Amino acid sequence: MFQAPVVPRLRKRSRAVEAGIQRHEEVKFEDVRLYLVEKKMGRSRRSFLTQLARSKGFIVDDILSDKVTHVVSEDSQASSLWAWLNGCGLKNLPMMQVLDISWFTDSMGAGRPVAVESRHLIQDTLPTLPEGSPPTAVATVSQYACQRRTTIENNNKIFTDAFEVLAESYEFNENEGPCLAFRRAASVLKSLPWAVECLGATEDLPCLGDHTKAVMEEILLYGRSLQVESILSNERYQTLKLFTSVFGVGPKTAEKWYRRGLRSFSDILAEPSIQLNRMQQTGFLHYGDISRAVSKAEARALGNIIDEAVHAITPDAILALTGGFRRGKEFGHDVDFIVTALELGKEESLLLDIIDRLKHHGILLYCDYQASTFDISKLPSHRFEAMDHFAKCFLILRLEGSQVDGGLNIAEGDSRGWRGVRVDLVSPPVDRYAYALLGWTGSRQFERDLRRFARSEKRMLLDNHALYDKRKKEFLAATTEKDIFAHLGLEYIEPWQRNA
Ligand code: UTP
Ligand code: MN
Repeated sequence: MFQAPVVPRLRKRSRAVEAGIQRHEEVKFEDVRLYLVEKKMGRSRRSFLTQLARSKGFIVDDILSDKVTHVVSEDSQASSLWAWLNGCGLKNLPMMQVLDISWFTDSMGAGRPVAVESRHLIQDTLPTLPEGSPPTAVATVSQYACQRRTTIENNNKIFTDAFEVLAESYEFNENEGPCLAFRRAASVLKSLPWAVECLGATEDLPCLGDHTKAVMEEILLYGRSLQVESILSNERYQTLKLFTSVFGVGPKTAEKWYRRGLRSFSDILAEPSIQLNRMQQTGFLHYGDISRAVSKAEARALGNIIDEAVHAITPDAILALTGGFRRGKEFGHDVDFIVTALELGKEESLLLDIIDRLKHHGILLYCDYQASTFDISKLPSHRFEAMDHFAKCFLILRLEGSQVDGGLNIAEGDSRGWRGVRVDLVSPPVDRYAYALLGWTGSRQFERDLRRFARSEKRMLLDNHALYDKRKKEFLAATTEKDIFAHLGLEYIEPWQRNA
């Protein structure tokens, strides 16, 4: 005879109807609410362990919320676990026990939640604070990029790419406020060692306004932003983007050409009334090469070439790689160097001698030399983002494939065996070296915030030449970047942490 299976009737809890909360087993430990992290554990093991714990009277939530008291993980990489937890937007995270699976197995063995011992804890890997500092200091993100450490690893690229498009579009419309706002927001997100997984996680972050958050919410929900997509498909944006990608063409010129109905490079080159300046002619001539990223190996090869030239001229010259490559970037749009001579005044002729030598080697494809207009008596400068006054040159150099470790970064099918690369050389007097190095290392956003910090927090004026204390009415001397950070009362930030 067919017999109906005997199903035990279990007491159902009224709260258990909520999604993600266990339905069947009797709860024995009301005060303990577990969450098992799926990463490393895997879905099927997580589901097995969940059933096991529930059968022993534990509450196990499927969803991580502020109600959870114990987070259990099999991920032995504390940093990635904490990075993920920090991105979950929990308010109660500081109160949660974040535990290794050993606490879970001990508790299952004992049939009750065992006391948490230090061996069970998965410690956050954030650096410990000096004694006496408030416990929130670690979590606080400064509004100034010069008080944040930003490596080239960007955990929030989906947002920062979108912000960059928005910032650029506002820049094309000469709308400075929102442009800067999106640049600042992008910079804050770049500094986070974790990825933002929900909007709640951004609550304590500075520089994120309503507009920024709305864009982030759209990206979190749909993976894209309609405003960004409409900009990207906008003809004016596309054209201005194309035109400004030419060396020597800024937003103003691009706009002028756009207004005249020009839409492509061939439109410009076919227009008889357009007079290209020398820089723009070069820009079109070498467009393929200089719009192509420069690799780290290519930057190193150019470093060797410049080094040879500099030291053949002055044995006591100082040469330093600066710009993005000094910050550890893998690719750049150019390679930036600072050269100076130990003997004050000698730097003046140094650049022209280097240029001569490069020309002599037959590798100088383009050179725009700007003599020094530096005059210490005209300092301090109150102009924000003012160009510096040091002697400098903007070059295009011919780089041979044979000189580059691993070969050139060129298009497939390019059989020339060489490419053109943009190189900038700047030559400050040696007593201005630290300021020039700090200014040229960037990033642009890091520099902006260094100046803003100096002005607003310290009543000091900083630029590529000097630091001026307005209260004391004096210039502050520096021989290293560390001196400058110390004058500003800032913790030293390494070049590779300045990718703001
Ligand atoms: P870059 O434009 O070369 O940027 O300027 P980057 O960070 O190296 O990035 P890519 O990879 O080349 O695109 C380097 C730094 O030099 C400063 C800029 O502010 C930036 O921080 N700079 C540049 C000056 O201070 N004065 C200048 O005349 C030019
Ligand atoms: Mn650069």
